Amino acid sequence: MTKHIVTTDDDPAIRKVLQIMLKKEGYQVTPCKDGHELSTVLKQDSANVDLVLLDIKMPGLSGFEMLDIMQRNYPRIPIVMLTAFNDLDTGMKAIRSGAADYLAKPVRRESLVSCVQRVISKSQMQQDAVAEKSNYLTRHVELETKLKAALLSLKNTTRATLEAFSETIEQKDAYTKGHCSRVRTISVAIGNAIKLSHDNIQILEGGSLLHDIGKIGISEEILNKASSLTKEEYEIIKMHPVAGERIITHIELFQPYRPIIRSHHERIDGRGYPDGLKGDEIPMDVRIVSLADAFDAMTSSRAYRAALPTEIAVEEIKLCSGTQFDPELVNVFLDKEIFLL
Ligand SMILES: [Fe+2]
Repeated sequence: MTKHIVTTDDDPAIRKVLQIMLKKEGYQVTPCKDGHELSTVLKQDSANVDLVLLDIKMPGLSGFEMLDIMQRNYPRIPIVMLTAFNDLDTGMKAIRSGAADYLAKPVRRESLVSCVQRVISKSQMQQDAVAEKSNYLTRHVELETKLKAALLSLKNTTRATLEAFSETIEQKDAYTKGHCSRVRTISVAIGNAIKLSHDNIQILEGGSLLHDIGKIGISEEILNKASSLTKEEYEIIKMHPVAGERIITHIELFQPYRPIIRSHHERIDGRGYPDGLKGDEIPMDVRIVSLADAFDAMTSSRAYRAALPTEIAVEEIKLCSGTQFDPELVNVFLDKEIFLL
């Protein structure tokens, strides 16, 4: 594309010579006689100007005044100053003031052409770099937006999947309606009270919803039996943590909840199942869900008994502190009155 150069010099002979030399090189040239004419050209079409040749000594606005105005208003356009012969100091001052280069008069054709080519090409490279950076930033913002949307969609899918599973578990047993979501509420309250991280709270949420997933494989007659269970039936019920772990084995999304599913019936004194884990062998999130699960089971109606009043269930929790439950968690549960949720 033809490059457009605006020359500014009060001497008509110089304007003419510059115009002839530049046109010969294929440039489009607009000659101006002073700063005001240059300002008018820039106001009308600055986007189309690739270089300004600016005489230092002009009537009205001087070259330096114009240089200052252009730098503030048209920083993209490179400026080459025209100085008097042998005036090296003024040339250096022009460069220090922001000019791209300077040419001493009388301007020789070769130096004019090589200077103009060099300055325009450097300016083009700078503009390309700016455009590249801007494109990069735009792409970065676009990718970030897409990534956020994908993460949100994944989060919503995860939540919906977890809730669907927990509903399936609850539907097996009419008496456990709402149990999983209440365990989640209590577990999250305890987790927040002991200042667990956001990630750990999310594990508590999902683990609470899924902890009894192994019950899916147990017959409804056993789960909903109104009379007490036989030894064999109780052994079948006790298989649900391991069965649950097996169900989620190949579901990558559920792996963070695996310890809660397998170990939520472990006891701090080692008398729980399926592994007889003790104290700190039971991870913190498991200990929390275990306490929440037991409390909600006591305060909900079951096929074989009515719901216990909250005060009685709280007494039971206190009694089992240090044997079935982590005593520090029991203290938090009582101090923060989480049992009232
Ligand atoms: Fe369970």
